[in-house]
Parts: sequence; structure tokens; C-alpha cells
Amino acid sequence: MSDASAARVVIDLDVPGPTISRHLYGHFAEHLGRCVYDGFYVGESSELPNEGGIRLDVVEALRALNIPNLRWPGGCFADEYHWMNGIGPREDRPGMVNTNWGNVVENNHFGTHEFMALCELLGAEPYVNGNVGSGTVREMSDWVEYLTRNGDSPMVRLRKENGREDPWKVPFWGIGNEAWGCGGNLTAEAYVDLARQYATFCKNHDGNELYRIAAGASDHDLAWTEALMKSISKLGGTPRDLFQAISVHYYTVPGTWEHKGSATQFGFDDYYRTMIKAQDIDRVLTGHSTVMDAYDPERKIGLVLDEWGTWWDVEPGTNPGFLYQQNALRDALVASLHFDVFHRHAERLVMANIAQTVNVLQAMVLTDDTGLVLTPTYHVFEMNKGHHDATAVPVHVVDQQAPYALDGKQLEFLSASASVKGDKALVSVTNLDPAAAADVVLDLRGATVRAHRGRLLTAPELQAHNTAAEPEVVVPTELTDITTDARGLRVTLPPHSFATIELDL
Ligand code: AHR
Repeated sequence: MSDASAARVVIDLDVPGPTISRHLYGHFAEHLGRCVYDGFYVGESSELPNEGGIRLDVVEALRALNIPNLRWPGGCFADEYHWMNGIGPREDRPGMVNTNWGNVVENNHFGTHEFMALCELLGAEPYVNGNVGSGTVREMSDWVEYLTRNGDSPMVRLRKENGREDPWKVPFWGIGNEAWGCGGNLTAEAYVDLARQYATFCKNHDGNELYRIAAGASDHDLAWTEALMKSISKLGGTPRDLFQAISVHYYTVPGTWEHKGSATQFGFDDYYRTMIKAQDIDRVLTGHSTVMDAYDPERKIGLVLDEWGTWWDVEPGTNPGFLYQQNALRDALVASLHFDVFHRHAERLVMANIAQTVNVLQAMVLTDDTGLVLTPTYHVFEMNKGHHDATAVPVHVVDQQAPYALDGKQLEFLSASASVKGDKALVSVTNLDPAAAADVVLDLRGATVRAHRGRLLTAPELQAHNTAAEPEVVVPTELTDITTDARGLRVTLPPHSFATIELDL
């Protein structure tokens, strides 16, 4: 292939941008279907290796991702969760009905202590989402005290009675979830008044600094973000004293909510629609950031995308309320595309949480009662680990083929991002073209590259996925089609593939 037909990814390795927070690679575990029960937690009597009931195969798989934070207990579940029912001897804990997710009985065996133990095993920082929808200010305030206070107090005594002497560190705290919907069907104005009250009583105890996250908008609902920012910016003192961030949720649902489509049975049109929907995350983040800039030009309030990912029809024969879906190479490309966008927004976007980590929606691992399968999405998280807390550098994709057009929207086939950390750089490149390989010159400027190593994630079919019977259909391999070029490096990316190239500088 001649140079004229190669696309160029121009990377300015000596132009430092914002830090890519490791928290952009955050996770989410809700009491939903088989995420917590069967997924993370099997109980101490299980034959599966476990510590205090927490599955050790899942922990081991996830530790390889360096999970920075884990959001819990929901989602919609958070706004009907009463934390006091999930402490003390398990046999005495009252049950409840999980009305959002299958109307199943929740026995509360996985509660506060189990969640904190899980975070410790994973090496992840806890992100606890409090109940505004059906809870009380006192209940939330007590939960913060129970978790984080040192010295003597009623909640500290209760915690000690339940076997935990020392307080935990809990950095991230959500003030409700989707308050416009399952979190209470509130108007933005009503919610933000409530949120100000709740946040006031979520105290910083004994050096535990809470990062309070107000429940934000969905998709392109800029009016919600504007109402929150308007109210927050009128607070006395600096707005950051009470709220440190606001959230937003965005799911890749290319069909309708009634017919979202299958995770593994789809054609080219479905694929294009999915990718066009996925790349819209850029417009969503730009929109909310722009509104925030008007009220917070110094960018002190963070934007937290605490739910994102693909949402397909559930796997045939599974409970519709459990949101269990397979995960194909297409899902991996949705993830790699999202991360490129996240890196570009790293100045305002401080955290993102994929929904959800185990057995629900775009999961990292799918479990059964004998073991687990790593999904293609898992491998994208693993291959991109080098971006955690690295410095983003400018990336421009030029000379690529004409974009694909569908229903008045366009899809560029190449997506890329890069970061530098010490004497290493990491370049991520995705070829979204489902049919043609991409010949790409990495035009590396501003540093000398001493060595390089490439990894590739692809499969013959976009629908390829891993199962217990065939767990390694989609796994990373070495990227061998990589040579030096006058401008830097030259790589050939197969159709529908994701690659990372690590550079020694
Ligand atoms: O992740 C599943 C659900 O999606 C969450 O509970 C809710 O916040 C969102 O609507």
C-alpha cells in the first residue's frame, strides 16, 4: 500500500494535556440480577473459593485491571436501599423486594461490611451511592458516620459491635441516582434543593474528605445540568464545599428500549448504528461540559459519567429483570471508542463507571457456578491500563478514508488517543471499519522512540465472543504488523480491531 493511502495519526508527545484520571476506568456493581449475588458474592458456604463469601476467581480476574473505584449499591436500587438492613449477623438481616430488578427478594447478606471487604480485596476505592428517593437525611448522615468516623459516637459504637474497629476511608459519595426517574421522578429544581440538604449532612469525619456527587442528567438533557449548576453556583462559600461533582449517564442503545437488539446476532447496519450511537458520547460530554463551563469556568466541579456501556436485549431464556447479556467484539470496540473520547475530555471528566462489572450489561466477566469467562470488553480495560493517571497528549487523525454515512450521521473509521507517563507512552488505536484493514502511520513528534511493543484485539467476526466452552475466541495477541517509518511507526490494523502500542521514550 502506498503512503498516499495510509491514514496518519499525528501525536505530539511533548505537548502535555490534562491528567487522565485512573478513575475514568471505574466500575459499577448494583444489586441487580447476578452482579452481586452469584457474581461477586456466593456466601461462605459456597464450594467456590471465597473469602467471607466473596468469589476469589472474580477478585483475581479484576485485580489485573487495577480497578480504581467501585460504585455500589446502585443505580436504581440505591434509592430503595436501607443500609441498616445490611449490617449485623446475616441471619438476622431483614429481606426486601428488589422492585426495580425482577421483584426478587433481596436478603441483604451483602451489605456495608461485605462491600468494604470487596473493595479491599480488589484494591479499589469505594464509591457509595446514598438513598435520596426513599431514604432520609438522617439515614444518609448516619451511614457516613458509621463508615468514616473515628472516636466515640452512636454509629461508631454500632460499627464496632459489628466487628469493625477502625473507620474506613470512603472518598466518593453519591447523593441519589437518576432523580429524574427511578430515584424519585423529581424535577431538577426539586432534586437540587433536596440534594443540597442531604449533602450538608454528609460530613467529613476525622480527615475523611467526601467527594460528593450530585445525581445528574441522562444523555443530552442539558437543562438538568444547567438547573444543578445554577443552584450550586448560588451557594454561599465556594460551590465545591458542598458538591465536588455532578454525574451524567449515557448508554449505547442503538435500537429502541423495547427492541434494543441482540448482543451477538446482528448485521452490518446494526453495527454501524451502534458505533454512531457510541461516538455520540463525545457530543454528550461536550454539551454538559459547556454548560458547566458557563457556571464554573475554572473547572472545579467534576463531571462523573457513573453509568455507561452497551445495553442489549437479555440473553434468551434469562430473567428480563436481570439484564444479563453476552459481550462480543463489537462491545469491545464501543469501549475503546469511549476511552478515546474520555481521554479528550479529561480536564472536566474526572470519573466514569462502566455498567456493570459482573454478569450485568457490558460486563468484564460472566460467571457460572463453576468459573468465569473474561469478555472482550475486559481486554480493552486491561490493554488500556497504561493510561491510568498518565498525561494526555494531543492526537489528530488525518488523511483517513471518507466516513461512513447512515441516516444523516457519519462515522469516522479510525479513533485514537495517547498518553505519556515517565519514559513510556501508550497509543490506543481502533479501526472501526468492519470490512477493510487500515494502513496507519503513527506520526510521532516531539520525542525519540527507543522501542515499541504492540498488542491487538480482534477476531474474524464482529459477533465473536467468549464462552465457558470457548473462552479464548477474543483475546489480545501480539501486533506483528508494525514497522518503523520515517515519521515514526507504521501499523496495519485488521478490520474491526483495537490495538495498543507501548513506546519507550
Ligand atoms: O445499570 C442499570 C440501571 O440503569 C441503573 O440502575 C440505573 O441507574 C440506570 O437506569
